[in-house]
Amino acid sequence: MAIKLKTLCAGVMGAVLLGSMAAQAAEVEVLHYWTSGGEAKAAAELKKIVEAKGNTWKDFAVAGGAGENAMTVLKARVVSGNPPTAAQIKGPTIQEWGAEGSLGNLDAVAKANNWDGLLPTVVANVMKYQGHYVAVPVNVHRVNWMWANPEVFKKAGATVPKTWDEFVVAADKIQKAGFIPVAHGGQPWQDFTVFESVVLGVGGHAFYKKALVDLDPASLNSPTMVKSFEMLRTVHKYIDKDSANRDWNLATAMVINGKAAMQFMGDWAKGEFTVAGKKPGKDYICAPAPGTADAFTFNIDSLAVFEPKSADAKKGQDDLAAAVMGVPFQEVFNLNKGSIPARQGMDLSKFDDCAKESAKDFSATAKTGGLVPSIAHGMAVPGATAGAMQDVVTQFFNGNSLTPKQAAEKLAAAAKVK
Ligand code: GAL
Repeated sequence: MAIKLKTLCAGVMGAVLLGSMAAQAAEVEVLHYWTSGGEAKAAAELKKIVEAKGNTWKDFAVAGGAGENAMTVLKARVVSGNPPTAAQIKGPTIQEWGAEGSLGNLDAVAKANNWDGLLPTVVANVMKYQGHYVAVPVNVHRVNWMWANPEVFKKAGATVPKTWDEFVVAADKIQKAGFIPVAHGGQPWQDFTVFESVVLGVGGHAFYKKALVDLDPASLNSPTMVKSFEMLRTVHKYIDKDSANRDWNLATAMVINGKAAMQFMGDWAKGEFTVAGKKPGKDYICAPAPGTADAFTFNIDSLAVFEPKSADAKKGQDDLAAAVMGVPFQEVFNLNKGSIPARQGMDLSKFDDCAKESAKDFSATAKTGGLVPSIAHGMAVPGATAGAMQDVVTQFFNGNSLTPKQAAEKLAAAAKVK
């Protein structure tokens, strides 16, 4: 009730303010966590489009992969009554902020620019709270990728694996040849990212959906989940002993530099290869994670707007949202970020083969049921539930305190956390 009352007052005051003031150039403050080499180049494009409309860019970057640190800082800012203009908030978390009454409204700019016609329904739905646009998508990332160094594979006499069983054969050869088979970092979200690709490959997309999206208890605590945990333990055998606390982009660098053979990571990793001047198909290989060629775990980055405090602020939000959905931004941002445009019908001729495969698979899997939300990247279930499940996966992955069977049982229990 308290929240609703606050929202109502703010809404009325906002309307009075907005009606009585002529909009001027605005300061646009955007919270994000795009700080790696490729990400920073993409974020710089965001700054450019803000400034192109005569507004001022205020960078609010909070380092930390997958945005855990950023979300903590954001909560503190909103609670203190000082939200930024917009923030990189994704998936069901947008609904949580909507329910708090904190978000602004982008319906007018969405209508004027035909967002309903330009966005796939699966994307548009995530951007709306109670039927109103509150966020604008910048991209579509695919999470179930494997990034491989072909030289390392060649030197080890190994073949890029298409199944998890083939992965074991290849990883053994690579290890024997003196390379690190799997480049991995040391944060729980990275463990969770590998886990979801293993579940997808071992169980298939229908199982993934039942277990990790619908949270069906019988699927979570099932022989297939036990098998997935067994494979996850096997993957752990192939990472190096220095992975603790390593950032994801440093793990990508190990594949780029030929220290390691492969990394299981979403296509923001491609941004690192691009920044290093590497070409797909030649210097590196992008392939679906083993056993997941018929599936696509999606992760849509988006900027949600907070309730504006003035007509200037509202103008800044609308300018930002309109430009983000524009063709030039969707192209240049995604060329740098490694993702594909969220906007449909774009000319992809400047994009590389990995992006083209991603776009093709995004459309194809939407028809077969293989298009599923990434749980590790906040697209599938509420934040508290994902967090509890991630804790189980990380505990399992980084020690021997749980057997695969116990981990499956614990995962099913964690899925009840709301
Ligand atoms: C993802 C996010 C990407 C990228 C990555 C690493 O969750 O969607 O944009 O930033 O984390 O931080």
